[in-house]
Amino acid sequence: MAMMWAGRFSKDVDSKVNAFNSSISFDARMYKQDIAGSIAHATMLGEQGIIGMSDSLELIGGLKEILADIESGKLEIDPNAEDIHMFIEAELTSRLGDVGKRLHTARSRNDQVALDIRLYLRDEIKEIKSLIAELITALCDIAEKHSDTVMPGYTHLQRAQPITFGQHLMAYAQMLLRDIDRLNDTERRMNVSPLGSGALAGTTYNIDRHRTAELLGMSGPMANSLDGVSDRDFCIELASALSVCMMHLSRFSEEIILWCSWEFKFIELDDAYSTGSSIMPQKKNPDVTELIRGKTARVIGDNVTLLAMMKGLPLAYNKDMQEDKEAIFDAVDNIKLCLSTFIPMLKTMTVYKANMRNAAARGFINATDCADYLVKKGMPFRTAYKITGGLVALCISRDTTLGDLPLKDYKSQCELFEDDIYKAISLDTCVGERKTFGGPAPESVMAQTELTRKRLKELCNE
Ligand code: ARG
Repeated sequence: MAMMWAGRFSKDVDSKVNAFNSSISFDARMYKQDIAGSIAHATMLGEQGIIGMSDSLELIGGLKEILADIESGKLEIDPNAEDIHMFIEAELTSRLGDVGKRLHTARSRNDQVALDIRLYLRDEIKEIKSLIAELITALCDIAEKHSDTVMPGYTHLQRAQPITFGQHLMAYAQMLLRDIDRLNDTERRMNVSPLGSGALAGTTYNIDRHRTAELLGMSGPMANSLDGVSDRDFCIELASALSVCMMHLSRFSEEIILWCSWEFKFIELDDAYSTGSSIMPQKKNPDVTELIRGKTARVIGDNVTLLAMMKGLPLAYNKDMQEDKEAIFDAVDNIKLCLSTFIPMLKTMTVYKANMRNAAARGFINATDCADYLVKKGMPFRTAYKITGGLVALCISRDTTLGDLPLKDYKSQCELFEDDIYKAISLDTCVGERKTFGGPAPESVMAQTELTRKRLKELCNE
């Protein structure tokens, strides 16, 4: 098949090279954005008198028909075309004849593709943000139900201090709010138009770049034509924001995997979100969370692919940049898959409150509170810390807990201990009194969910 640019060539390109060069298998998904960009371009060409008004209208009509035909399935995208830009232009020309050949006036595929990716990712960011928002709302709902569900908090995966399950979940809500914030930021820098940069050096035609940007709902034209066609920062920024978000989902997944184990049994996933083993009849595996942890590696890889692809490229467009799409589309596709599986999985899990509480009741998780008890009676913290350490050692030697240790043993270490020590180190006091802003007390958790819902609304309206 002769290529659209075949004029200069004396023979056909080798068929293997054609296949190697082609990007249609992965850029066909941008057909809608390609057509939107072309409609804006054709509109502007007409308004500026660069082409006749009737040609402009004919081009717009033809493009709209192509869009409708692709959407209805009437027109199939040719898998042998070089890329989506060439396919649509060729189709337009076959429908409109010479008028179709006017569309590419004052434009290059270099500014065209840069525009299409921006428009495509702009739509994807909206979808991803709404999925993250749904996850945050689900977390708030569950946290409110479990604002007083006591569980052990960990450092070094060792029981540290008692917290509430609601508090634990709201930590993830905070991370996810930052993810939306990052996506807003990425979106803002992405939503600038490279159209009119031409191949690299703009054009001699009297185009109006502000007008095409406006028609496409973008904040304005990119300020330099070389940068316009050679910038892929927006892909890297998005891949990076998505990597961070995936890292959050991966940490959460890791915790869910631990919590599902018999060693913890804090939660159980619904059967619909677990899988069995082909040999071990007792198994119920948290495959979904493991896959999310695995796919995080892949999204981080996409980010690295993009950085490595760009790092040695001279200005302006280089064909290496065609590799941007598979990497960023992979990241976008996978995070959407992960989020849309994770949300219902979370909503349907069963929480074993009693197991969480039992785990919190052991492991001397209230030792800090025991030391604080003495501090509140006037003792310096370091002294109180040492006395409590002695009491913990005593409990370990007798295989008991601070809650079960008789008062006389407390008194043997320090006369300041009275009967009220038991209340002071009870789990409910330990958690209930930690009502500092952002703390684990039930009332603090409720305040956090309220603030989170409010911040989410603000971020979604930005
Ligand atoms: N398919 C190409 C890409 O994805 C479109 C731009 C081609 N430009 C060029 N000068 N060959 O990057």
